[in-house]
Amino acid sequence: MGWFSSDIDTFEELFVHTLQDIYYAEHQIRKSLPDMVAKASDAELKKGFRMHLKQTDGHIKRLDRVFKMIKSLPQGTKCPAIDGIIDEANEIVGEIDNKTVLNAALIAAAQAVEHYEITRYGTLAAWAKLIGRNDVAKILAMTLKEEKATDKKLGSIAKRKINKKAAMRKLPKPDRTERAENAFLAAAAGIPAI
Ligand SMILES: [Fe+2]
Ligand SMILES: [Fe+2]
Repeated sequence: MGWFSSDIDTFEELFVHTLQDIYYAEHQIRKSLPDMVAKASDAELKKGFRMHLKQTDGHIKRLDRVFKMIKSLPQGTKCPAIDGIIDEANEIVGEIDNKTVLNAALIAAAQAVEHYEITRYGTLAAWAKLIGRNDVAKILAMTLKEEKATDKKLGSIAKRKINKKAAMRKLPKPDRTERAENAFLAAAAGIPAI
């Protein structure tokens, strides 16, 4: 099902489609979180990811409940946005060896995921009210609150320690021989000395 394709005709159908989008996204996030737990080397970050993994199970259960309430079958629809966020995260994380820099990258990736979830749940909670389902809106708002709290917590861990530690990681300054080699290579490539 694609955005604005002919199989979405009403606002209710758009609501269900977006619900299926976040249902798919939550399952993809659930699959990738154990890897984030394994890769995080900071104890507080590891604990935070582990806690959010449990919360994510709860988010999926809440969505199952919402599908039941609106008498629709719980099913996902492929969400290229979350696939892209997760693919990019895996790609970057795979290129980092240094543990502190890796922790900073993991937080940045997780915050991108949280922001995606926040936008979807925010929309869905607002739309649920508009279709006269305040009961559904309340459930979606509970998850929205947890996603926002997770984002805030990740931001605080990053600001308080992880980013500072990562910023301290610098490449060693080149020694005299390396500087001479670099100057020789630059000259050979026709790059003028500054
Ligand atoms: Fe979630
Ligand atoms: Fe989340």
